[in-house]
Amino acid sequence: GKSGYDHYMHKEIHEQPEALRRTTQGRVNALAGSVDFEEFEPGRFADVTQLHLVGMGTSYHAAMYAASLFATRGVPAYAFMAGEYSLSQPPVTESTLVVAVSQSGETADTLDAVRRARSAGARTLAVTNVVASSITRECDDSLLIRAGPEIGVAATKTFSSQVTALLLLCERITADITGTASAESRELLESVARLPGDVQAVLDTSTAADVAEAYAGSEAYFFIGRGVAHPVALEGALKFKEISYEHAEGFAASELKHGPLALVTERTPVFAVFTGRDDEMTLNNVKEVQARGAPVVAVTSHTDGDVVDVADAVLAIPPTHPDLAGVPANVQLQLVAYHAANRLGRPIDKPRNLAKCVTVE
Ligand code: M6R
Repeated sequence: GKSGYDHYMHKEIHEQPEALRRTTQGRVNALAGSVDFEEFEPGRFADVTQLHLVGMGTSYHAAMYAASLFATRGVPAYAFMAGEYSLSQPPVTESTLVVAVSQSGETADTLDAVRRARSAGARTLAVTNVVASSITRECDDSLLIRAGPEIGVAATKTFSSQVTALLLLCERITADITGTASAESRELLESVARLPGDVQAVLDTSTAADVAEAYAGSEAYFFIGRGVAHPVALEGALKFKEISYEHAEGFAASELKHGPLALVTERTPVFAVFTGRDDEMTLNNVKEVQARGAPVVAVTSHTDGDVVDVADAVLAIPPTHPDLAGVPANVQLQLVAYHAANRLGRPIDKPRNLAKCVTVE
């Protein structure tokens, strides 16, 4: 049941600290700076030379997030929408690891991408929430995100668990390839251990309901971010549009000037996601949209200084490692979407035209 919540989505948003504890349980050794998966023996990924991460919707956003993490560690990794990957498949070798990111493990486009990658000779790894799903059966290996069952059509806790599981996978693959655990790993894994508590803090203190109220009736809602905050912006917009039916779009902050800025007016609030890395650049984009009259909601761990001074409203996240900050930031955006849809009386757990699992291409 919904255990006192009006919607499964709201319940599942609140289950995230617990889901993240399960995702990381027994996998993180912060002291050693290492990640251990009972699924894979040490060195299992030592000969991987590049990764293709494929998924659809929210899972594609998690794949983008992970590709950005790999890239900053010097490991070539690219995210693809699974439906497009199948149509124009980039070259793979036996040292290409194709990672299928899918909550259900049943998405037709993602399953098809895996089949094609396999027959072209790539190694395949499923990152899913469902044991013995079709995609796990098709892949050489699988890694469970252990988020627990998700009933709401809108993916919430599974995104947080996907990103966190992929971050652990990234640490592990990088260590397998380079043969060492870095000092930075230790710091990051300490932040991973604090993540469930950080998300709980967001749930306990969020002012997302007030923000949703303040900007109700806007013409459109835009979301911007750079680095890992880019997929978080896309995910924020996806959640907002799918459950509220309001027009919402996510952009890379760097993309604004190249077209989307023409849409920005005083009637289009802009949610800007800050991770603690390259924040000054995103602050410049914030000033650009404000100069066009748009109100700006900053999702940030800053409690004073420029970001907070400039923003019209702030959705606060606890200070954490920039690689992880997208997770609590996304929780704030889930809550904004939820409250915006709820005040419009939308059928939040079953949005029109959508299904939890898309098994046709
Ligand atoms: O089960 P999957 O993760 O493969 O599903 C992929 C998408 O259909 C899914 O993430 C969808 O975008 C979300 N339910 C949207 O909230």
